[in-house]
Amino acid sequence: MPQLTAPQFTARKGAAEKLVVLTAYDYTMARLVDAAGVDCVLVGDSLGMVVQGKGSTLAVTLDQMIYHAEMVGRAVENALTVVDLPFPINHYDTGAAIDAAARILKETRCQSVKLEGGEAQADTIHALVTAGIPVMAHVGLRPQSVHQLGGYKVQRDQDALLADARAASEAGAYGMVIECVPSAIAKAITDTVPIPTIGIGAGPDCDGQVLVVNDVLGMTAGYVPRFVKAYAHVGEAIQEAATAFTADVRSGKFPGPEQAFK
Ligand code: KIV
Ligand code: NA
Repeated sequence: MPQLTAPQFTARKGAAEKLVVLTAYDYTMARLVDAAGVDCVLVGDSLGMVVQGKGSTLAVTLDQMIYHAEMVGRAVENALTVVDLPFPINHYDTGAAIDAAARILKETRCQSVKLEGGEAQADTIHALVTAGIPVMAHVGLRPQSVHQLGGYKVQRDQDALLADARAASEAGAYGMVIECVPSAIAKAITDTVPIPTIGIGAGPDCDGQVLVVNDVLGMTAGYVPRFVKAYAHVGEAIQEAATAFTADVRSGKFPGPEQAFK
């Protein structure tokens, strides 16, 4: 199966079968997620929180995104790949934004970039698309603006959200994430724009869904948002395995004869 392309992703707008997007940050996880058959693997700047353990995504650098995207790009064979532009590249002038996005395409095998914003970022989206770089937009809660928004809050300004979504679509985005908006507004956006909407905390009526893979696996420490559903308890499994190994080493049970050389 050839790797899914951005135009093929866009063509799935409104399809009965929803689009599936999961994050991954390294080779091992990206291979597993791709083998599961997701449509798109996102190298999210959420890695600032789930990999680096920071309180927000703001500290993540372009070099760090490229480091992770290179590993993910090398692992993924089937899914479309998309890489977040870290703060504040979505606010750079268009030439600087093209330079940054081009580094991602040059230095990783990933195919597209995602940037937070809509109406105010329309010129940047258009410039990237004109440069041949597919762009996924990201409207609703924009975590890179957490300080300006006053926290990770549900976004409810329907007119502003629709304006962002329309502007991103008209600027040439091939799809968009809608984060933390009431289901009815996400449906209105989905009914309005001709490109796929990928929801996270945006209800069931989007064209697809995205979650952070650590959340899906049940390995997130501390606060887990309401929109997350854990499909496994990998965090517990890791801790149990490490605890069992610790006990075996301390008691002399490991290594046994089968792990030793004669
Ligand atoms: O960084 C990320 O993982 C994201 C998704 C949650 C959409 O932007
Ligand atoms: Na992100």
